[in-house]
Amino acid sequence: MRNETPKEERLLQELVKKSPRVLEVESRLDRDGRIGINIGSLEGQFLKCLVAQGNVEKVVEIGTQYGCSTTYIAEAIGPKGHIYALEKDETCIREATESFSQLTGCEINLLRGEAKASLKSIESEGPFDLVFIDANKSGYLDYYLWAKEFLRPGGYLVADNVFLFGTMFENQCPEGTPPKMWKKMKTFLGTLFADSDFHSSLLPTKEGLSFSVKKEES
Ligand SMILES: C[S@@+](CC[C@H](N)C(=O)[O-])C[C@H]1O[C@@H](n2cnc3c(N)ncnc32)[C@H](O)[C@@H]1O
Repeated sequence: MRNETPKEERLLQELVKKSPRVLEVESRLDRDGRIGINIGSLEGQFLKCLVAQGNVEKVVEIGTQYGCSTTYIAEAIGPKGHIYALEKDETCIREATESFSQLTGCEINLLRGEAKASLKSIESEGPFDLVFIDANKSGYLDYYLWAKEFLRPGGYLVADNVFLFGTMFENQCPEGTPPKMWKKMKTFLGTLFADSDFHSSLLPTKEGLSFSVKKEES
């Protein structure tokens, strides 16, 4: 949760105006007391740059909420763009449907229910160009293993909140953090960064954004 806007994000807010669509989604998140769970402009602009630099048409977004991150991606993707947006919460599904009704210019499929089942259902649509992980933290390891199989060579894997609210800086699970979740995030990061099929880095945003490129087949 982004309680306090980091200074880097404040600078970006001065420099980059959020689009009317993003602002509209954020106003509904604010109304419902859910603002800050969505990505901020740092992550949003990063996704936009990644998508706009080319060769990104098929995107899988795991954890859509009201569709703020989907909106950033949709605003940068070309007319052949196809976003598979995965969400299980009924309120979020309703609100994301509202957000998507305003988005034109690319195809968006909202896949309802548990992400693992939704991922299984789209395997035949792959390979994908970008997988963005922003859902339940204990699922990141499984989502990455899925992406490893279904991303195209040269495709991107981006995951938000990988600092797990600052707890990844510790060598032991801090009190108050579910140990299973903490261990799974440590394992996810350790496995991803040791994976010779990917080039990986971390963008030190407040929440931590991992960024990986699946290596081209040799
Ligand atoms: C951090 S929010 C996503 C924010 C969104 N990416 C954005 O920036 O606009 C995480 C979302 O993942 C959804 N979620 C959590 N676990 C899930 C699961 N196992 N399957 C599908 N959706 C899940 C939650 O309901 C929540 O809406």
